[in-house]
Amino acid sequence: MAAGKVDIFDTTLRDGEQVPGCKLNTKEKLELALQLEALGVDIIEAGFPISSPGDFESVEQISKAVKNATVCGLTRAVQKDIEVAAQSLRYAVRPRIHTGIGTSDLHIKSKFNSTREEILQRAIQCVKWARNFTDDVEFYAEDAGRTDNEYLAKVIEAVIKAGASVVNIPDTTGYCLPYQYGEKIAYLVNNVPNIDKAVISCHCHNDLGLATANSIAGVIAGARQIECTINGLGERAGNTSLEEVVMIIKQHKHLGLYTNILTEQLNPLSRKVSDTMRMPVQPNKAIVGSNAFSHSSGIHQDGFLKNAQTYEIITPEEVGADSSKIVLTARSGRSALAYRFQNLGFQFNRNDVDVLYNEFLKVADSKKEVEDADLSSIAKKYQSNVALA
Ligand code: KIV
Ligand code: ZN
Repeated sequence: MAAGKVDIFDTTLRDGEQVPGCKLNTKEKLELALQLEALGVDIIEAGFPISSPGDFESVEQISKAVKNATVCGLTRAVQKDIEVAAQSLRYAVRPRIHTGIGTSDLHIKSKFNSTREEILQRAIQCVKWARNFTDDVEFYAEDAGRTDNEYLAKVIEAVIKAGASVVNIPDTTGYCLPYQYGEKIAYLVNNVPNIDKAVISCHCHNDLGLATANSIAGVIAGARQIECTINGLGERAGNTSLEEVVMIIKQHKHLGLYTNILTEQLNPLSRKVSDTMRMPVQPNKAIVGSNAFSHSSGIHQDGFLKNAQTYEIITPEEVGADSSKIVLTARSGRSALAYRFQNLGFQFNRNDVDVLYNEFLKVADSKKEVEDADLSSIAKKYQSNVALA
């Protein structure tokens, strides 16, 4: 793998689909998988095959249809899970088994009533089982965000020795601060002797709104895979948002990183996922929200109309969004009003706009947004008053 290439591991169909109300049938999953492949994701986590016959079928169908991306199935550190995942992935051109176990003391004691040593042995064992079916085995250390770094390094060294070629360091509960998550990845880079034999993966949840920042801190520290979902869907407050990490990496070229994502497809696919999962995107969501390229305050509108780069760091075309919008509200200014009148075919000089602006404000104070129909009626009334005078 090239030094600066960051693999995009999409888990919309697994972690994203776990969200209440977002469940998909096989046809829907297959359709989205093909679009994720067209988007350029490197790995598609297609499901958790042992969880239900429907999910098994989805992973099987996706394995048959996807030709370029790696297709991955999730398992617990349980032999039967791994056998079922391998069976569902048998048609995949590039199959990956994603197996693992909780490594924080909290998970070890409360979930498994076990010890660090026993969990270490189970981690090694599950990787070995998975390697019987494929060379591409990814190990996840669940709750790595709250796992003691020294113990985590021990587990990661052992699973790489057992045959894992990707090691996933999930911040399962979205607990870490970006500097802490970055330091955790750096600790592994510096303290796991065989780390050069594996790719480190970031899997960050968004419980404190830090999933994207943590994933970026991870790749700055040396990770080369990010696990993420379209629209940031995922358990609880969600996962790292694919569109955000991809655009951060694209925007900040000085990081020396890149992905293979075709960014013009980001907005169309965001809408498709939102429609298919019946999960609306918040309007102020970065990159794909309906307000991501809308300008409504007078100061911003004036700057934007002089030079779009004053208030936009990426263009809507670059991410396949609709053109930038000048939205008129009671906070808008004269430049924006003149611009919108012009777009509607009205030619007014500065004095006209001064008078019209007061009329506009009366309407704007009474509603959230002033629409084209309101503007036309303000303009026509003004023109007939001028004609009568
Ligand atoms: O959040 C998490 O830890 C996970 C693992 C199963 C990879 O989703
Ligand atoms: Zn997760």
